[in-house]
Amino acid sequence: MTASQIRQAFLDFFVSKGHIIVPSAPIVIKNDPTLMFTNAGMNQFKDIFLGEAPAKAPRVADTQRCLRVSGKHNDLEEVGIDTYHHTMFEMLGNWSFGDYFKKEAIAWSWELLTEVYKLPKDRLYVTYFEGDDKEGLEKDTETYELWRALVAEDHILRGNKKDNFWEMGETGPCGPCSEIHYDSRPDNERAEVSGATLVNADHDQVIEIWNNVFMQFNRLKGGALQPLPNKHVDTGMGFERLVRVLQGKTSNYDSDVFQPMIQFIAEKSGKKYNGSATKDNNTNFESFGEWDEAVSMRVIADHIRAISFAIADGQLPSNNKAGYVIRRILRRAVRYAYQYLNFNEPFLNQLVPLLAEQFKGVFNELYDQKDFVQKVVLEEEKSFLKTLADGLLRIRTLKINHYFAEYEREFGKQDSRTQTEKESYIAEKMVDNTSFEVSGKSAFELYDTYGFPIDLTQLIAKEMHWTVDMEGFEVALQEQKTRSRAASVIDTGDWVVLKDVDSVEFTGYEETETIAHVVKYRKVTAKGKEQFQIVLDKTPFYAESGGQVGDKGELVFPDGEIVKVTDTKKENGLIVHYVDTLPDDIDDALTAIVDPSLRNQTNANHSATHLLHAAMKQVLGSHVNQKGSLVNADYLRFDFSHFAKVTDEELGQIEAIVNQKIRQNIPLKEERSVLYAEAISSGVTALFGEKYGEYVRVITFDDEFSKELCGGTHVNATGQIGYFKIIAESAVAAGVRRIEAITGVGAEVYITNQNQLVNQLKDLLKNPKDLTKSVESLLDENSKLKKEIEKSILEKSSGLKNELAQKAEAIGDINFIAQKVALPNAEAVKNLAYQLKDIVPNLFLVLAADFDGKPSLTVMIAENLVKEKGLHAGNIVKELAKEVKGGGGGQPFFATAGGSDISGLDAALAKAKSFVG
Ligand code: SER
Repeated sequence: MTASQIRQAFLDFFVSKGHIIVPSAPIVIKNDPTLMFTNAGMNQFKDIFLGEAPAKAPRVADTQRCLRVSGKHNDLEEVGIDTYHHTMFEMLGNWSFGDYFKKEAIAWSWELLTEVYKLPKDRLYVTYFEGDDKEGLEKDTETYELWRALVAEDHILRGNKKDNFWEMGETGPCGPCSEIHYDSRPDNERAEVSGATLVNADHDQVIEIWNNVFMQFNRLKGGALQPLPNKHVDTGMGFERLVRVLQGKTSNYDSDVFQPMIQFIAEKSGKKYNGSATKDNNTNFESFGEWDEAVSMRVIADHIRAISFAIADGQLPSNNKAGYVIRRILRRAVRYAYQYLNFNEPFLNQLVPLLAEQFKGVFNELYDQKDFVQKVVLEEEKSFLKTLADGLLRIRTLKINHYFAEYEREFGKQDSRTQTEKESYIAEKMVDNTSFEVSGKSAFELYDTYGFPIDLTQLIAKEMHWTVDMEGFEVALQEQKTRSRAASVIDTGDWVVLKDVDSVEFTGYEETETIAHVVKYRKVTAKGKEQFQIVLDKTPFYAESGGQVGDKGELVFPDGEIVKVTDTKKENGLIVHYVDTLPDDIDDALTAIVDPSLRNQTNANHSATHLLHAAMKQVLGSHVNQKGSLVNADYLRFDFSHFAKVTDEELGQIEAIVNQKIRQNIPLKEERSVLYAEAISSGVTALFGEKYGEYVRVITFDDEFSKELCGGTHVNATGQIGYFKIIAESAVAAGVRRIEAITGVGAEVYITNQNQLVNQLKDLLKNPKDLTKSVESLLDENSKLKKEIEKSILEKSSGLKNELAQKAEAIGDINFIAQKVALPNAEAVKNLAYQLKDIVPNLFLVLAADFDGKPSLTVMIAENLVKEKGLHAGNIVKELAKEVKGGGGGQPFFATAGGSDISGLDAALAKAKSFVG
């Protein structure tokens, strides 16, 4: 079976068991502060498990793209070194939401593996949870009994909390689990050592392929386990591992999921992929072999998947949070490509089209944006390659520099030993001390100056058999962070539940005032300040999403107490209101009131964003895709994929189209529950990286013009936007540009200000007929005058030259001149000094000048005097400057100084003579 047949067989099997197939959620997570990336198929159903949202169907199945590179589930270190861990992988899953439980889940997994996929039973091992006293969790005998009916006893193994109690993260849904492992060793090895002893023992041929989790608890902040309202099934099968097993391979990279990529990398690098090469402990990156090359090819084939899908789902590489995780993975791959496969030019980006093709029909997000993703990867590669070579050189020389420094400390810098003796001292140290620690300071320098993520430095150090002083690095990093901003620590408490509800209702499409009850609340401490978060059963408050900011407003409690809502955010299925205080009595009905004027302005900006998006597709082309947006009461910001600057002419056209649509006063058409598939086929604009349900909301302004999937709030008709004005166009990242614009009152104020400015200018210029012409002629005149002034200064200094030359006083063999001159700037004085030098031999010249109240001193000494008498203009001018309360310096023959006390100029000139005598 090919990989795609294997995937299809899984989905078909669960359809036959009454499941509906749902699409993969994006890999980048938006509404869950506990996670950056999707790390398991169940993430998108977290709110259903927690009882915060109803299930759309009791049984679903899918293939979910996952990323395990941060937090509780992090496999990054293993990737490429072994053959079965990945950064991005597909998780095949089936779910029961309060429907079937252990019995069906276990029976079906066995049926699928042994009857559909026909895996030999004697190679399969299953596990069950042994219980945990400390947590008060019982042994899962039910699971044991269920397996016992299907599997030989010696293939059923007990597992501890680490392996058999699955948790999503530090908090969140969890429960006991049962894993299925596959032993792919040859028969003779299996006869010698039982596979049972190798399960969960990091053996690369006895690997876990499927995990069946029986969701029963929610892990709370303090560590306590709270039973879930219902019991659920969450299963996850590693697709790449399944394919490898079914295709009879011993490495995931040998299956048809990875081979096309590996072969492409091998071909382009001119090296062969030897998947069975083994590690030679004597190599480091100075001398490496087939193992290192094979690891590199695996790392690249793996990492490009994580990078590409993250970018396609909207996460651009950047310097913080999720963006930095992606940048780190990318740089890790670039470094392997550069160091072991000789890719000195950007290469990773060439894999993007290949990958896009491979996932066409499975995850179309990548195919639909392949040019954009490739461009982003290319630019990232270019920028890192610029410093990579320098950074690597820096690492290589760290140890030798360390001993050079030690040598100098021991024997002093001016040591009389020969170079050879010195080198042999260091060579000896290098041999004697194989261990070496990269200091925290060096690691930080690599991070800060060369862009080496710390894990990359650690990886390279490991290859050199060195270590890194991580504590020292953390200290340096913290120091920098403290320097740039005060650390913000947010401590979020557990929810205090007042009322059980299935889901919360958003009333904000119809009204801005709603009577509601508090469902739950929690305390949050941010930067030492205490705040509260409140969830209501019904609310008109729009929670930040789709670029639109969260509503602000008030909660009016029955006793008249008013609590200000400072922000509203989404968390999984909840709408969370941020408030500073909490009244004592929160049990009774309250009135939730959104600030209407902020909301109206936000509506105008949001609707204008839709019009802008549609207008841009008309003017710039259909490749323009939204890459991010911000809509608040003040303005709108729209980021989009486009490879060139938008010209003024194009901006003008876009603006004109939007304003035309505003004037047409097109009524809003809002459809709340359109089938996703139908909406897409009717040509609506959907955004990449958004998670859409089966039913979607479609916002239309003129069927022929703008139709978008959107959850935001809008004007009733476009006329309410008033007027649309673009105020900026700029670049934000490779292939991404930004337009900022304002509408309504904001635009009116802007235009009024512009108009006032023009009127003020007209007034200043005495109301000319043509303002532009009048400014132009002013500029012309100004430049003419400047030239004339320069010319007259030059003439003046030429006149002065002769006058001063006359005044030269012979002191010994020196011609001494110390004079005050009436010149307006340093350039003119310098000019004069050079001219004098040409006509007065053996010159010792000091010029004092008054530049608009600021004293200036200039010293010029003939070169022969400098040589013969050891005079130094720089030193002399410093001394003279003391008289004007200033300082300066320069070369031995020419130097200048400034000061703050103009009255000291005469004293400075008088002092000058003391240097020639
Ligand atoms: N949530 C479990 C896992 O990720 C099963 O899907 O392993």
